[in-house]
Amino acid sequence: MKIITTIKEMQQEVRQLKVQQLSIGYVPTMGYLHEGHSALIDEARRHNDKVIISIFVNPLQFGPNEDFDAYPRDIERDERIAKEHGVDFIFYPSVDEMYPHELSVSLSVKDRTDVLCGKSRPGHFDGVVTVLTKLFHIIQPDRAYFGLKDAQQVAVVDGLISDYHFPLELIPVPTVREEDGLAKSSRNVRLSSSEREEAPQIYQTLLHGQELIRAGERNTFQLEERLKEKLANSISGTIDYLEILTYPGLRKPDQIEGKIMIAVAVYYHKVRLIDNLIIDVPRK
Ligand code: PAF
Repeated sequence: MKIITTIKEMQQEVRQLKVQQLSIGYVPTMGYLHEGHSALIDEARRHNDKVIISIFVNPLQFGPNEDFDAYPRDIERDERIAKEHGVDFIFYPSVDEMYPHELSVSLSVKDRTDVLCGKSRPGHFDGVVTVLTKLFHIIQPDRAYFGLKDAQQVAVVDGLISDYHFPLELIPVPTVREEDGLAKSSRNVRLSSSEREEAPQIYQTLLHGQELIRAGERNTFQLEERLKEKLANSISGTIDYLEILTYPGLRKPDQIEGKIMIAVAVYYHKVRLIDNLIIDVPRK
């Protein structure tokens, strides 16, 4: 496994891989790898000749009140995990390498960001698409792997790839869960023991929504209200949002049909948890 810190060297390696007609699977990360990332890497490993991951904490996607400096970093641990999962290259650039000067062209996401997490994080997805545009150009992957735990990010990246004709396939990978259903996240360790005990109720609520849809519920507003009530009664955390949206368009449907997502975010004392379920609902 090679660790590469400059764009020039990464481009040279990519050129070599292209000459040899080897396919590239790419997993973009901000490091501090956990099992969710390992699942993405394993999936990339299964379907590509070479696997490249990037580790870059992207300042552009942090708001003024979000602590970029406090974002957890542990490159040695990340290297060990990446090696164990068969990564071929880690692209690990500095901020100066990625942003040597202020950008003269900016990218701004127009759609799919005024809902869910995007609502409370203005500019976040602009930063995400900006860094991904650079990274996709540098790494030129055949396939890029993203976790469905952040389904809004997957939807926004889907828009970026199709609007700007990136010659790569977006591969969304299902959320990895604990045995009790809680979506895995490096943030889970910040839950108190009682919060950790009740947190699987978030996923249970999503599954209950799925059951109600299967039983015939098609009214978006009514289902949202029923699920909010159920969740509020089973956890001590505060619901930030519980929304039903079309997927990947992220619009509020009057009637539940086609591909939809039930998405939820809950504030606990020291941490905010997100989860979602994407469901294909047959049109009547
Ligand atoms: O999901 C993340 O970790 C980041 O948003 C990404 C895709 C690596 C872009 O910085």
